[in-house]
Amino acid sequence: MAKVTIIGATGNVGMFAAHTVSEIPYVSEMLLIGKPGREDFLVGCCHDLSDSFAARGTHVRLSYSTCLTDAEDSDVIICTAGVPRKPDQDRNDLALENARVVAGTAEIIGRCSPDAILFMVTNPVDVMTAVALKYSGLQPKRVFGLGTHLDSMRLKSLIARYFRVHVSEVHTRIIGEHGESMVPLWSATTIGGIQIHNLPTFSGLPAREMIDTVRTSGQAIIRDKGSTIYGPGEAIATLVRTILGDENRILTVSSYITSEVHEIGDVCIGVPARLNRDGIFPVPIRLQDDEVTGFRESVQRIRAITAEVIERLEETR
Ligand code: 2OP
Repeated sequence: MAKVTIIGATGNVGMFAAHTVSEIPYVSEMLLIGKPGREDFLVGCCHDLSDSFAARGTHVRLSYSTCLTDAEDSDVIICTAGVPRKPDQDRNDLALENARVVAGTAEIIGRCSPDAILFMVTNPVDVMTAVALKYSGLQPKRVFGLGTHLDSMRLKSLIARYFRVHVSEVHTRIIGEHGESMVPLWSATTIGGIQIHNLPTFSGLPAREMIDTVRTSGQAIIRDKGSTIYGPGEAIATLVRTILGDENRILTVSSYITSEVHEIGDVCIGVPARLNRDGIFPVPIRLQDDEVTGFRESVQRIRAITAEVIERLEETR
């Protein structure tokens, strides 16, 4: 059984992730961490969640803290801490401010919970994954980010709707930045196991509009209801369940690559990776020429932002 810690548990995503993660059968203990001064809010979260456990028959030992070192001995630590996006902001507008939060958090986590898997959700998530990897001192296989898993789920839904099939019949991936430069892998998209290019109706698929919809989904939801909650919350639980269940599923998450994708490396970005109890392992893949071009552009964009953020972080430390 496992201990899962959620840092940023008083935020919208952190609160709902507590609900979804507590349903995972391998979770025996969950610690909610918030900033000092949020104790009453955390008490309320625990109280409210405990009521849901009673209704659901969940038996998870629930506690809260405002001290990061209480995350010691966690199996998985989910970090949603940081400033959320406003409707007119790009995820990268949050980079330096959130990097300061993540760097300090990662240093403490690396010391007090060296055997944990650190799961970044804070945006811009690819950059925050790199910051967490650098400052935690954990091995690359033990640090990853939500990345384009959520984007892949959004595209999956759109494709299922277009072809009027059950969403479980669609397998697709988006790689690259969780943001503007994301890259859909049509070459890895199937419906009922059939390559999408081999379906006559594919010729009418509004592919560009679909990707534009996925690319702006987060912003549209934030504009309409203030924050994305259910999508990220369920995506987080899927990934934690895959890890704790030692399932070896291949999901598309932000992880550190060295050469797995056409010899491109030294960046944290959305790629297909195998997830199990030992960590996250990017899967060597070959892409179509246009997909490689898009992925290289995405890598260059994220690598540049990451380098600038870490350079400015180092100046102020
Ligand atoms: C989203 O796209 C939280 O960035 C995440 O909803």
